[in-house]
Amino acid sequence: MIRKLCNFCKHAWPLRKQKLSTQSARCQRVVLGIETSCDDTAAAVVDESGTIRGQALLSQTQVHLKTGGIVPTVAQQLHKENIHSVVNEAVLSSGIPLQEVSAIATTVMPGLALSLGVGLTYSLNLVKSYNKPFIPIHHMEAHALTIRLLQQVEFPFLVLLISGGHCLLSVANGVSDFLLLGQSLDESPGEALDKVARRLSLSTHADCSSVSGGQAIEYLAPFGDKEFIKSSAPMAQHKDCNFSFAGLRNHYYYCIQQLEDQEGIQKGALLSCAADVAASFQHTVAHHLVKRTQRAILFCKQERLLPSSKASLVVSGGVASNEYIRKALQTLTDSMDMSLLCPPPELCTDNGIMIAWNGIERLRIGAGVLENVDHMRYEPR
Ligand code: KG4
Ligand code: ZN
Repeated sequence: MIRKLCNFCKHAWPLRKQKLSTQSARCQRVVLGIETSCDDTAAAVVDESGTIRGQALLSQTQVHLKTGGIVPTVAQQLHKENIHSVVNEAVLSSGIPLQEVSAIATTVMPGLALSLGVGLTYSLNLVKSYNKPFIPIHHMEAHALTIRLLQQVEFPFLVLLISGGHCLLSVANGVSDFLLLGQSLDESPGEALDKVARRLSLSTHADCSSVSGGQAIEYLAPFGDKEFIKSSAPMAQHKDCNFSFAGLRNHYYYCIQQLEDQEGIQKGALLSCAADVAASFQHTVAHHLVKRTQRAILFCKQERLLPSSKASLVVSGGVASNEYIRKALQTLTDSMDMSLLCPPPELCTDNGIMIAWNGIERLRIGAGVLENVDHMRYEPR
């Protein structure tokens, strides 16, 4: 079933869609965005004013939970099976025929090669059939700019991108101008959360059987004690803004093994203290994110990289939909006289809207809008 964001998103854009007059609808440039970089097949049509004219999304999460992680060939097959209906749904619900869109924007990097390939091949066929300009999109740039679709946020701002594939801290100076301050040296917070959730067999928990590992951890954490497993923050001695999650995750693997031995259960069964482990791990991940972001803020202040008053920290990517992590970052920004800006959870996780909006941002400044796609390739890394 194709999920439509407007059915559950509480935010203002469906209203903005209704208010749009036919006249203003005609004057606006619109972009069709297509996203297939990982395990979501998504598409959207967005106009220059940031109004979402139509969108559709099909998540593969439930399939991959059964196989214990994303199998790239399975993801590719599902994208192939669904891309046409997802794009069709987005275009039909926008009421704008493909002939009238100004450009087609598609994620071409980074991501799973087999998944990126499906979106790119499909998009290039549309580009050629309808003779449209093509805008190749960097998935993380799209996450970073989503906030500007929702509210006015001027450059420069500090941006923390936390997802299943990445952990990046940058200063966004412009649409395609990012100064990288730090990144994960090993795995991303989303990957670590997913692995710990899997090791805890949370998908066998009645209330967590159809959600991502990160969501399962967030769901269980309020029932647990965050002090249950204590671990020191990684990289405390590192005088930079990088992150590391693999050591923490390994420490949790070890603790879970010990707890299974104590309870006399096998790997694959649910621990009675699973909620305590979830609460502790969520807290530890939040704490590490806060500590490293604090260093980045201090660095930005020292180097005058951000506005002197009420600078913004934008947080996006799937892990940014976690309320506990948001609150921890909110406490940080309050104490540093900064504003914390996060898109709603539906726009933090992967979606077609952010790709279409990134296309609009690029179209406006005329950056990376291609008339010739002969040498267009995707770049997984
Ligand atoms: O941005 P995203 O949808 O896909 C990538 O680009 O990777 O992020 C997916 C990641 C997954 O690791 C998922 O477990 C995590 O975001 N995630 C969460 C939550 N919702 C999704 N992590 C913590 N709390 C959540 N509520
Ligand atoms: Zn993403």
